[in-house]
Amino acid sequence: AKLHSLAKTAGKLYFGSATDNPELTDTAYVGILSDNTMFGQITPGNSMKWDATEPEQGTFTFSGGQQIVDLARGNGQLLRGHNCVWYNQLPSWVSGGTFTAAELTSIVQTHCSTIVGHWAGEIVNLTCITEPFNDDGTWRSDVFYNTLGESFVATALMAARSADPTTKLYINDYNIEGSGAKATAMQNLIKSLQAAGTPIDGVGLQCHFIVGEVPTTLQTNMEAFAALGVEIAITELDIRMTLPATAALYDQQKTDYNTVVSACQAVESCIGITIWDYTDKYSWVPSTFSGQGAACPWDSNFVKKPAFDGIAAAFS
Ligand code: G3I
Repeated sequence: AKLHSLAKTAGKLYFGSATDNPELTDTAYVGILSDNTMFGQITPGNSMKWDATEPEQGTFTFSGGQQIVDLARGNGQLLRGHNCVWYNQLPSWVSGGTFTAAELTSIVQTHCSTIVGHWAGEIVNLTCITEPFNDDGTWRSDVFYNTLGESFVATALMAARSADPTTKLYINDYNIEGSGAKATAMQNLIKSLQAAGTPIDGVGLQCHFIVGEVPTTLQTNMEAFAALGVEIAITELDIRMTLPATAALYDQQKTDYNTVVSACQAVESCIGITIWDYTDKYSWVPSTFSGQGAACPWDSNFVKKPAFDGIAAAFS
């Protein structure tokens, strides 16, 4: 089974994977990633972020992102951009800076329009804003919100739209996959952007899940987003477990991947699914959550796990 081909046949735009530049020296890894019937889309996991692209004010470095753009183009894969404005992985001149509102607005505009403009025509859809909310649905306290209030969101979206009118603009977050205060906050933000005429095309549900804990309201919550008239993308799917992995955990993980893909399948506005790298060899999970891992559909030796069959079955 080839997951992107199955996704296309099932009416979706893509099934894809995140990747990262240091992994591209691993030829076995790249061989699987480059099969465009398995992965029709890729996302750079780090190399388009602010610290990588504008490490000093006004000094832009595109080489890491370009490597991923070239890979996608060479493979005939769609590219999802990630990201313009996020509280994390900021260069210190941004995160530690003291700015007037006018200064920071201009900095956000310049950053977004420069990176989006640089890759205009290459990025099919873009996670423009990442993780603006706390889990209780209040705004995250970061340099953007603390200096600008929520206006930084519209500033970034408008700059991105002007720089590349064709790329679909998204906001993504975690813990908005099921109904609750954080999902409601995102829905309210989308409504207020729409009411103001600010460009917003879609919402990204990150979907960093734990085995056995996929929210039961995933599909109904997707329908609530769809009712706003925006696209939905699953942008960072992985489903981790407490190690060691067992057959029972793998079996539950298969069920959970199936549940997530089936929800996207059931909601027409859900355009595609991206896993946050395809192999446990390069998953972000173990370094962040001590004792947890095995979150991806391929194990660290590139062997498909039961989760793979759970995804394939949901598209079939
Ligand atoms: O760039 C430095 C390098 O110079 C240094 O030698 C090395 C030593 O540790 O660290 C490198 O930075 C790492 C960076 O990835 C680039 O490889 C950071 O330590 C590491 O923390 C960082 O992790 C990334 C993480 O975002 C940061 O929060 C993960 O790879 C990336 O997969 C992850 O992705 C995020 C999404 O962007 C947003 N949603 C959550 C998701 C998971 O955290």
